[in-house]
Amino acid sequence: MPLIPYSELKPLSDPTEESKRLSAYKAVDENFPPSAKVIGIGSGSTVVYVAERIGQLDNKADFVCIPTGFQSKNLILDNGLKLGSIEQYPQLDIAFDGADEVDTQLNAIKGGGACLFQEKLVAYSSKSFILVADYRKKSQNLGVQWTKGVPIEVVPSAYVYLTGKLNEYGAESVVLRQGGSAKAGPVITDNNNFIIDAHFGAIQDPKQLHQQLKMTLGVVETGLFLDYPQKAYFGEKDGSVVVRT
Ligand code: 5RP
Repeated sequence: MPLIPYSELKPLSDPTEESKRLSAYKAVDENFPPSAKVIGIGSGSTVVYVAERIGQLDNKADFVCIPTGFQSKNLILDNGLKLGSIEQYPQLDIAFDGADEVDTQLNAIKGGGACLFQEKLVAYSSKSFILVADYRKKSQNLGVQWTKGVPIEVVPSAYVYLTGKLNEYGAESVVLRQGGSAKAGPVITDNNNFIIDAHFGAIQDPKQLHQQLKMTLGVVETGLFLDYPQKAYFGEKDGSVVVRT
């Protein structure tokens, strides 16, 4: 699969964008299985470069890409890739996705783009799951770098009840995520639910927190991704890439 060498690419003017592209290109170059048939494409600004790199492959007709949301569906189409659905292709060879924060154990917070349910479904369905991110997402402990909170997808009618519960669970802040403007109202997910961002400070036991949240009435899914990523790629400021496995 001939790809343009990184050194021959025009540098990006924004260093953070450069680090996103670096992580995404390296993750694809090192992990894309040559015989892959079904690929998951996540959401966010870093995955843009994943789709771009996969779009440079000359065997694009040989595999189908599964999106995790509206943006990712457009990314697949814009890069000339074949679009499929998770219902048609429930078993994926590999999936690439972005992250809001990743700890040393490869636990991650995701859902900054409100697509966490579909992202998790794709991650669960994939033989291999690779995270791509810039240096700001590399953390020792979840909840330290990413202070906007754990995104939680909730049934709309339960959001007031859940706000109380999350405060009871020790959240430092609980915010019902709003759309672009004050008039827009709450963000509505692809599954017609709301997103609550709940910040718990440094999360000592992400598994326990995830389980507690999942047991709470009205919670559809949490943005705590535990045990799925096999590798995480972080583009650094100095042009290097750190890989955690
Ligand atoms: C969307 C996500 C994104 O992957 C995450 O927010 C990272 O985004 P970006 O690459 O723009 O930093 O989980 O739900």
